Amino acid sequence: MNNNFDVIIVGAGPGGYVAAIRSAQLGLKTACIESRKTLGGTCLNVGCIPSKSLLYASEMYYKVQKEFKNLGIEATGIKVNLSRMMGNKNKSVLTLTKGVEFLFKKNNISHLKGKGTILDNNTVTVIDDSDKKETYKTKNIIIATGSVPTSLPGIKIDEKVVVSSTGALSFDKNPKELIVIGGGYIGLELSSVWKRLGSNVTVIEYLDRIIPGMDKDISNEFLKILSKQGINFKLDCKVTGVNLVKDKAVVDITNNKTSKRERIEADKVLMAVGRKPNIGEDIIKLGIKLNNQKKIEVNEKFETSIKNIYAIGDVIDKGPMLAHKAEDEGIAAAEIIAGQAGHVNYNVIPVVIYTSPEVAMVGKNEDDLKKENIKYKIGKFPFLANSRAKVNSETEGFVKVIAEEKTDKVLGVALISSLAGTMIAELALAMEFGASAEDIARTCHAHPTHSEAVKEAAMAVDKRPIHF
Ligand code: NAI
Repeated sequence: MNNNFDVIIVGAGPGGYVAAIRSAQLGLKTACIESRKTLGGTCLNVGCIPSKSLLYASEMYYKVQKEFKNLGIEATGIKVNLSRMMGNKNKSVLTLTKGVEFLFKKNNISHLKGKGTILDNNTVTVIDDSDKKETYKTKNIIIATGSVPTSLPGIKIDEKVVVSSTGALSFDKNPKELIVIGGGYIGLELSSVWKRLGSNVTVIEYLDRIIPGMDKDISNEFLKILSKQGINFKLDCKVTGVNLVKDKAVVDITNNKTSKRERIEADKVLMAVGRKPNIGEDIIKLGIKLNNQKKIEVNEKFETSIKNIYAIGDVIDKGPMLAHKAEDEGIAAAEIIAGQAGHVNYNVIPVVIYTSPEVAMVGKNEDDLKKENIKYKIGKFPFLANSRAKVNSETEGFVKVIAEEKTDKVLGVALISSLAGTMIAELALAMEFGASAEDIARTCHAHPTHSEAVKEAAMAVDKRPIHF
């Protein structure tokens, strides 16, 4: 193989592999380095994809037990075969990671297997499993090394009793007692999985609300829904220690307001207090500029402080740590390297929590707008008044549209619905095109669909919903 490239990407997660495909499409001679055995990064191997497989399977189990009877379907002898459920998850992961491998071949991308180290802005080395080292020259480098789970001071993740999301996606039996530290995305999705499969789940959250960045109305409603499903919440509580006693964990917590202390025992503890950028020694040695959260600083062209070295995804100081954000940055960075005008609109990045019901948002929430002193109006519509949701017994949740007071321009939308993750795409598109609430209200929405609630919420901005 010729060891000279136009672009070498370090990391084959959703940011890196998409950047590689787009670079190759644009005629750049492209290589992508990955140390994991399979392509696809955290998302495909131990994140988005396996978690969605378990969320789907456990939701089906829950529904067949609790909801089918109302539909006139009587099922008996329903039980979980966890090893089969895990096998199905592993098969989905394998199929999708193989899919990326196929796309690499199709696009003539060199897949460099091993650990990559950036020596300078034109030189990268790769050490493979057998310690063989190869040196490559390149005109451009894209850092797409993603992120790793964080823990709390003094608490070690052993992936046996105290686990990260990786461990919690592979339990060989459902823990009787599961404590989840952190009421964010990972904490709530995995709480849902294990609660449905029979665990007693307690979520400990430091702040006084779950998903702190979320619209307050949605956060409050979401908490009610999850509590009704049987998940226990201890909000406003600080974990002061996690100790292993025999094969159990003893978790000490203190209430931030009352200072009341409590000690709870669990079979497993999931640490879900966030992730940190995966910054290698090479990045430190090169002196690539980091911000005070140890994220790589990039400009609007994804250029780092060193010429020809770009960075995208979870390692950079822009936007949320989300796979689809990284993908869009990968496309934009490749286009910029190829001399085009790549761009990511950070005001319109949808966020979805894949619980049941799902939660989704795009744009700003009320707190953001208050801080920015922007005057706004709100339209809300509950799924209780949506015919399709009613027919399907999916009446929990609502749509909330926030529009600028004077111009009626949509500034943000948040919703809770069984289909929120799919429905948010319409709103992201509307916002990309600068739509007003009136534009959405006057767009014909098919009947009977959950999406009619979006149109109704847009009409409610002008206080004229039809069905509420
Ligand atoms: P997160 O940032 O979403 O949530 C962490 C939670 O832990 C926050 O609510 C925070 O207040 C709480 N916390 C922090 N310190 C604590 C302490 N000492 N005690 C108790 N609670 C504490 O992080 P999470 O859930 O670990 O997810 C990591 C990343 O992965 C996120 O950036 C998220 O965007 C991404 N992700 C996205 C998903 C999706 O899009 N559906 C699914 C899973 C992960």
